[in-house]
Amino acid sequence: MFDTNSVIGVIGAGTMGAGIAQVAAQAGHPVLLFDAAEGAAARGRDGVAKGLQKLVERGKMTAEAVEALVARIAPIASLEEMAPAALVIEAIVERLDVKQSVFGQLEEICSESTVLATNTSSISVTAIGSTLKRPQNLVGMHFFNPAPIMKLVEVISGLDTRQDVADAIYSLSASWGKKPVHAKSTPGFIVNRVARPFYAEGFRISQEGGADNATIDAVIREAGGFRMGPFELTDLIGHDVNYAVTSSVFAAYYNDQRFLPSLIQLELVNAGHFGRKSGKGFYDYREGAVKPQP
Ligand code: NAI
Repeated sequence: MFDTNSVIGVIGAGTMGAGIAQVAAQAGHPVLLFDAAEGAAARGRDGVAKGLQKLVERGKMTAEAVEALVARIAPIASLEEMAPAALVIEAIVERLDVKQSVFGQLEEICSESTVLATNTSSISVTAIGSTLKRPQNLVGMHFFNPAPIMKLVEVISGLDTRQDVADAIYSLSASWGKKPVHAKSTPGFIVNRVARPFYAEGFRISQEGGADNATIDAVIREAGGFRMGPFELTDLIGHDVNYAVTSSVFAAYYNDQRFLPSLIQLELVNAGHFGRKSGKGFYDYREGAVKPQP
């Protein structure tokens, strides 16, 4: 269904969208990058260039290769310019109504054969597709953060997703060097369901004063073998995003207490302390700040 000449559209140039654009451009595709916030698409592309510059400094990529990769990412100023895309991957705010609205517009702009993919962490692909004319063309393509590094891609089929569409996204992800898995559209899919108690129990220990955040993170890393503990990982993900995902899984399971959202995380969201992307979350990432030691 796709080859390297296939134009890949990415909507949302934040933490995930910029990384996904990098992955597609790295695989040789022309990429169109759109964000509703003015200048964000260009900033997203510049962020990719800056990140890759580090690989040049370490001798892992040539400056020419980086230049060619970045040149394949074209920031666009309107959704209408997505018309030539064979696949559009959406990585915008984690809200059902907003995602439905963007895909509804894309159905009018793109061709009937364009595959529409959502990077949603937790919203039902079936529900997103329910307001579309062609729900069979909608599929979940769930990358993990940071998208250029993390191998896993969950390929999520909603009730109406055509199998050949899911299979094409599976093959494309594999050709991009990823490890895709098929999953159905259950709340949180695989990873974000299993991960809920990982975050929640860490937050509870902290809230009860059982141990400080840096100690909990260190134990999970060193004894548990995880790459990050719950505090550093949610700082990386973004608390606005992570809290929205927990709330959505909680609601989808009829307020099952196992998925109860955390009030300490809600306070971070209320304060605008979203984690690394805002400079502060559980930890302080601003210049000169010192990370607490366990
Ligand atoms: P983010 O907040 O870093 O970026 C979202 C971007 O989307 C922003 O630049 C915003 O201006 C733009 N945007 C919002 N509404 C828009 C609209 N209607 N049209 C166009 N652009 C719009 O968020 P992040 O972390 O990149 O998350 C995006 C999606 O990816 C969410 O659905 C999230 O659940 C999912 N996700 C997030 C992961 C993470 O670790 N942060 C991991 C995997 C999935």
